[in-house]
Amino acid sequence: MKSIAVFTSGGDAPGMNAGVRAVVRNALYLGIDIYGIKYGYNGMIEGDIYKMKSYSVSNIIQRGGTILKSARSKEFLTPEGRKKAYEQLSKRGIQGLVAIGGDGTFTGANVFYEEFGIPVVGIPGTIDNDLYGSDYTVGFDTAVNTALHSIDLIRDTANSHDRVFFIEVMGRQSGYIAVQCGIGGGAEMVMVPETSTTIKDVIERLKKDRDKDKTSSIIIVAEGDIQGNAHEIASKVSKELPELDIRVSTLGHVQRGGSPTAFDRILASRLGMAAVEGLVNGKKGVMVGIIDDKIHYTSFKLAISKSKPINDDLMRMIEVLSS
Ligand code: F6P
Repeated sequence: MKSIAVFTSGGDAPGMNAGVRAVVRNALYLGIDIYGIKYGYNGMIEGDIYKMKSYSVSNIIQRGGTILKSARSKEFLTPEGRKKAYEQLSKRGIQGLVAIGGDGTFTGANVFYEEFGIPVVGIPGTIDNDLYGSDYTVGFDTAVNTALHSIDLIRDTANSHDRVFFIEVMGRQSGYIAVQCGIGGGAEMVMVPETSTTIKDVIERLKKDRDKDKTSSIIIVAEGDIQGNAHEIASKVSKELPELDIRVSTLGHVQRGGSPTAFDRILASRLGMAAVEGLVNGKKGVMVGIIDDKIHYTSFKLAISKSKPINDDLMRMIEVLSS
């Protein structure tokens, strides 16, 4: 393999830059030409592709966002779009790809690999931590720490005013951020898409807490919970318990920004190195992940189709430790 390209796609995640740096530096170390593709699949289609040098990734390991920019491409969903993308790569002699992103990115990468046979290795880069084949995804740890910082701030005011706060964190299909924040933030309850906590459960819990003289409560809601978003849940609860002083806070995109934690920088660096090594050793159509602290390659098919369940012990821990 003489020439490869790297791109970031889908929702950005802190640590993507550390991943890009590792890919670029390891490729150059192994004597492989490395290209950067800007704006994910859109840039691949448009030919927004440039040759990277070692200095192209200087001073980025600590930066949030992605220097390669990101996008969710509609055109790549079409066969015509993918053909254009393949032509742009062939024209430059690019023989392999490293895709950094989440399930949408790998769904596209898998179709592309199956259609054109071009080897692609994926690095899980998403704050959601919802990919089968890696214990952690790049950006998750930073997002949890960022959210926790805000939850700590809200706890102060919740406590001062004896209020109930519903705090919404990101995760359209996944409750990983919510669960970690629930444990680390000492929340009373966590509502996630993977479990079926009802409004009745919330009401009962709040009543029980008041009976035990708890004066304030924090309930973390993953944005994709089946009962609705934090505002909808809060308004249903408020109708049943009008005596409670209820407030809602949606943390939103702050969770996607900021300097990556040490954990995310190291994870991204390990996965970046392993992605290039994987390509050199003939891996194709796979995501590189870390399981029990060891590098593993999982087919895109499995990574995108199998779900990574929330650990029941963690859910139980939230209940016991906040009782
Ligand atoms: O997948 C990452 C993520 O941040 C999800 O947690 C969230 O639901 C979604 O992206 C938001 O996407 P967008 O930035 O396109 O609104």
